[in-house]
Amino acid sequence: MPPSPSVIGILGAGKVGTVLARLALAAGHRVLISASGSAERIALIIEVLAPGAEAATTSEVIERSDVVILALPLGKVRSLPVDLLVGKLVIDSTNFWEPVDGPLPEFTADPRGTSEVVADLLPGARVVKAFSHLGYHDLDERPLPTGHPDRVALAIAGDDECDIAEAATLIDELGFEPVPTGPLATGKDFQAHTRAFGYPLTPQELRDAIANPIEREG
Ligand SMILES: NC(=O)c1ccc[n+]([C@@H]2O[C@H](COP(=O)([O-])OP(=O)(O)OC[C@H]3O[C@@H](n4cnc5c(N)ncnc54)[C@H](OP(=O)(O)O)[C@@H]3O)[C@@H](O)[C@H]2O)c1
Repeated sequence: MPPSPSVIGILGAGKVGTVLARLALAAGHRVLISASGSAERIALIIEVLAPGAEAATTSEVIERSDVVILALPLGKVRSLPVDLLVGKLVIDSTNFWEPVDGPLPEFTADPRGTSEVVADLLPGARVVKAFSHLGYHDLDERPLPTGHPDRVALAIAGDDECDIAEAATLIDELGFEPVPTGPLATGKDFQAHTRAFGYPLTPQELRDAIANPIEREG
């Protein structure tokens, strides 16, 4: 596997953002994290929930990080500083979840997967989809070392092999088994309301679910 990025930027200091921050810190990375406002506004949250991570503004996080993880509400992607993301590896962990997100017609009216729409909103960014289909509590509680037979699988979809490999290294370091699924378009097969979504699965179970991603109710 290629060397993983060393400075991890996380946009979103909520449930998923702070869990990923803790995992990345435990793996030895430097972590920068932002919410929608100033660094001061999240300083205490970060001190408590992800001690060692550095609070910053969203622009500062993007400028100073090797990889940027989107851990913010899907509808907020449009508000990001697009120019700063050009050329950056962007890992999209967002989902469309109507009870939380409300109606987002630009995503729901588009037949493609949500990460393809995200990639359109961030032209020039190297978007891969990962860390999206497992609940934050499972991300928090289930990391296991490389090679452990009970490792939980995390899917990665992306259009560039090198970007997928970089994201796979990061997933491995954070304690999960990377399962590349193919181009970014395949992200649709593990987004919300698919069989792969919301449950801890082994790599084979995840591959099986993605191969037959019939939508579930709810
Ligand atoms: N919850 C899960 O189990 C889970 C699992 C996998 C993926 N996801 C996905 O991850 C995303 C975040 O979910 P969550 O549950 O962590 O949400 P959350 O707890 O509501 O946290 C959202 C965070 O995003 C921040 N934010 C809003 N606008 C921002 C911006 N422009 N720049 C940087 N940060 C911004 C919010 O900050 P403010 O408070 O300042 O608005 C908040 O810290 C969603 O798309 C969700 O579908 C969630």
